[in-house]
Amino acid sequence: MGERFCSEEPSSRRARPPRLFRRGREEEPLPGKVRRCSAPPQPVIAAKEPFPVELKAGKKYAWCSCGHSRSQPFCDGTHKKAAPGLSPLRFTPEEDKTAWLCGCKRTRSPPYCDGTHKEEAVQGARVSTQP
Ligand code: FES
Repeated sequence: MGERFCSEEPSSRRARPPRLFRRGREEEPLPGKVRRCSAPPQPVIAAKEPFPVELKAGKKYAWCSCGHSRSQPFCDGTHKKAAPGLSPLRFTPEEDKTAWLCGCKRTRSPPYCDGTHKEEAVQGARVSTQP
């Protein structure tokens, strides 16, 4: 657990022989083009704007942090296959309220939108349509 396989070397490392990366250290090279790396999986952008949601006090919610859920902005379990290593953020509001839940999955105050979606890194990126 915590490891994943990467099919390609980053372009800056193509000239170097493939190596196994595990928990930040280099080990024996793997045969073929497959290598292991410990880099955490990155979420995909589900939407370039937040989702307005009516939240109920005391109700438990699971905000999708991987971006693959088809029930945005909430988790539908797709992360188990599409983004192992990422898990939903569970939260329980203390009061009834309308909240803007992050759709770009880049917010620094999850699950709430903090305006990060306005940055070029999000606005210029492709939106995920498939898990
Ligand atoms: S939608 Fe992600 S920060 Fe606003």
